[in-house]
Amino acid sequence: MRAVVYKKPFEVAVENVDDPKIVHPADAIIKITSSCICGSDLHMYEGRTAAEPGIVFGHENMGIIEEVGSSVKERKVGDRVVLPFNVACGFCKNCLGGFTGFCTTVNPGFAGGAYGYVSMGPWVGGQAEYLQVPFADFNCLPLPAGTEHEADFAMLADIFPTGYHGAELADVRAGESVAVYGAGPVGLMAAYSCIIRGAAEVYCVDHVKERLDKAESIGAIPINYDEADPVEQIKDKRGGQGTDKGIDAVGYQATSAGSSAVGGEQDEVPNIVLNNLIETVNPTGALGIPGLYVPSDPGGVSDAAKRGALSINFGKLFEKGLRLATGQCNVKRYNARLRDLIIAGKASPDFVVSHEVSLEEAPGAYVKFDRREEGYTKVILHP
Ligand SMILES: NC(=O)c1ccc[n+]([C@@H]2O[C@H](COP(=O)([O-])OP(=O)(O)OC[C@H]3O[C@@H](n4cnc5c(N)ncnc54)[C@H](O)[C@@H]3O)[C@@H](O)[C@H]2O)c1
Ligand SMILES: [Zn+2]
Ligand SMILES: [Zn+2]
Repeated sequence: MRAVVYKKPFEVAVENVDDPKIVHPADAIIKITSSCICGSDLHMYEGRTAAEPGIVFGHENMGIIEEVGSSVKERKVGDRVVLPFNVACGFCKNCLGGFTGFCTTVNPGFAGGAYGYVSMGPWVGGQAEYLQVPFADFNCLPLPAGTEHEADFAMLADIFPTGYHGAELADVRAGESVAVYGAGPVGLMAAYSCIIRGAAEVYCVDHVKERLDKAESIGAIPINYDEADPVEQIKDKRGGQGTDKGIDAVGYQATSAGSSAVGGEQDEVPNIVLNNLIETVNPTGALGIPGLYVPSDPGGVSDAAKRGALSINFGKLFEKGLRLATGQCNVKRYNARLRDLIIAGKASPDFVVSHEVSLEEAPGAYVKFDRREEGYTKVILHP
């Protein structure tokens, strides 16, 4: 089959690789209809991880079940399904607790597995024609048959639940004010989730115009951090007050004001968003941090950053009595309810999608998405 293969930093190619097979009776094979490129793929694409050449990317997958193993009972050939980016077993202690992002079965020696991702287990990615899904009854979220809402449902594999997770980690409640740093796909979905949860005011901080425009289109207040200190801009709009809650949807590759849209190591300030959030959020508030931080970053900007050791204003955090929560999204905790919001017409996360291209066009789409060019916000690949 054809698949997107990582070659070297800033280069992927579409190549022939082995077709996936049922290797365990609980597996299913999915014929992919949509697979998205994620900001998380860019960490690997840019060579900022230990990803080896040859890895097939793709953790945001949906499609039609082509084949099932003999022990798969609930899902049937022909079912339309979307797969959480987390690969999970459903029976380990963490899965039983609802923490499917920290499954201890699927990636032995580590808590958490994913398709097509470095250090996340042996699971081949779905930016390809077919995908092997283990524990298929547990991992496949069934969708209405047909082709309706394809782009909306594709967002259920990662970014809609992850944005919602950001709102959940920050404990966002009706009537509150929230500052979301990052208006990439995850930040836009976090802002959208805060609005769905009834937040009164949502600020969205970024410096990519098309992304800030999308934030404004859903009713968030755009803040361009190239224009002035984002903390001051938010406080100016709020009569000197900060916000009740804050969300980091940027992660460790955060850049300083005035940097190019692409970022680049010279502009990178890995702790800037965490410290901005500590300044932005009012005393007794909470910070949700779905943005990615890593314990080892060989390309980090300093010796400490290479170890994932970041300097944050913990004294100020303590003084303000702020809570913070982090981590991979447990997609399965939210995806069925978010699917039902889409079916009911109460959520349409596809506003974030900027480009839908064929699988063969993936290499060019990676280049443009990485440079945040031409409004590349979220790309869906169709094999
Ligand atoms: N926790 C999870 O389960 C999970 C899942 C998916 C993605 N992620 C992570 O979430 C983060 C965002 O993902 P994405 O797909 O939206 O990525 P993205 O790279 O497309 O978006 C990040 C955005 O942050 C902006 N940005 C950079 N520096 C900033 C700053 N100082 N202040 C405000 N904005 C700034 C960039 O301009 C960009 O638009 C990534 O770190 C990704 O790895 C986490
Ligand atoms: Zn993703
Ligand atoms: Zn598990």
